[in-house]
Amino acid sequence: MILTKEVVKIDVQKITKSRISELDLKNLTFGHLFSDHMFVADYRNGHWEKASIMPYDKIPMAPSISALHYGQTIFEGLKAYKNEAGEVLVSRPLANVKRMNVSCERMAMPIVPEELFMEGLIELLKLDKSWVPAAAGTSLYIRPFMFSADEYIGVKPSETYKFIIFTAPVGAYYSTPLRVLVETNYIRAVEGGIGYVKAAGNYGRSLFPTSLAKKRGYEQIIWTDARNHRFIEESGTMNVMFVIDDIIITPPLGDTILAGITRDSVLTLARDWGYRVQERKISIDEICDAHKRGTLQEAFGTGTAATIAHISTIGFDGKDYDLPPVPERIFSNRVSKELDDIRRGKANDKHGWMMKI
Ligand code: COI
Repeated sequence: MILTKEVVKIDVQKITKSRISELDLKNLTFGHLFSDHMFVADYRNGHWEKASIMPYDKIPMAPSISALHYGQTIFEGLKAYKNEAGEVLVSRPLANVKRMNVSCERMAMPIVPEELFMEGLIELLKLDKSWVPAAAGTSLYIRPFMFSADEYIGVKPSETYKFIIFTAPVGAYYSTPLRVLVETNYIRAVEGGIGYVKAAGNYGRSLFPTSLAKKRGYEQIIWTDARNHRFIEESGTMNVMFVIDDIIITPPLGDTILAGITRDSVLTLARDWGYRVQERKISIDEICDAHKRGTLQEAFGTGTAATIAHISTIGFDGKDYDLPPVPERIFSNRVSKELDDIRRGKANDKHGWMMKI
């Protein structure tokens, strides 16, 4: 991989008039409003070039570009916060670069050099600092993504790509605890497939089964293994964890599960606090059995967008399994608060997760 000189030199074209007045901090939802600028870099002739920051806007593209037809498209998600001094802190950006490049490899895309990702991100955040909200429950969601850009409809890895980072001030992804349905018909991922990759197609394929679950009164689904539909995989767009008998249990990473960065942070804190943590296969039968015995204390999803999403009810085989009320949940409430405090500079960042811009 050649990192050309042009890459580190970012051409900056600023907006003429900021749209910051559109930012309504009291009614901040997720994902509808985008900050003033975006970072864009192009890959062609075997290297990245033309790194620039420009006003957030539509991107011209031909109808024939391969990403639109064959889904050679990947993305990342991370968040920035403000501390009490008004400084911007980004959570674990290097983990995102690393994961993005795992996705690149599997999708036959060129890797994104760390310098390109980080310099683009830092410059963008410096420029759009005023878009980082400070209120409780808000943050700046950062969306790096990359897609194949060849104007060619034969199936082969593209020779040209675009890497873009844009940002969005956001509120909560889920505003209430979730009712989730255990999915035993459709699948999210198979061994040898791309479940561990943050590829657009993994999300597109989830929409139809999720819409069926919604018709039945659930907000999300819990994916199960492709072979027997017995073992838990993920929940919706998140990793999933259970607390049974004070043990934190989550499915192990592998081909079919995304290596969530929030997942890793949660497990790290749990271990710091002396909890027993088990990354192992967990079946739906074990969960139903724990519920029957009264030892299923908590269930929650972890993800960048949602952070910690409490699960209120698990639907399986025509029956609803209700979990204890959220205020009684010791671990997920504690970890949710600690993560938030670390991200806003209120708690000791022992693991060096936060990068100050
Ligand atoms: C994230 O948590 O960043 C995700 O990727 C979920 C997203 C699809 C909103």
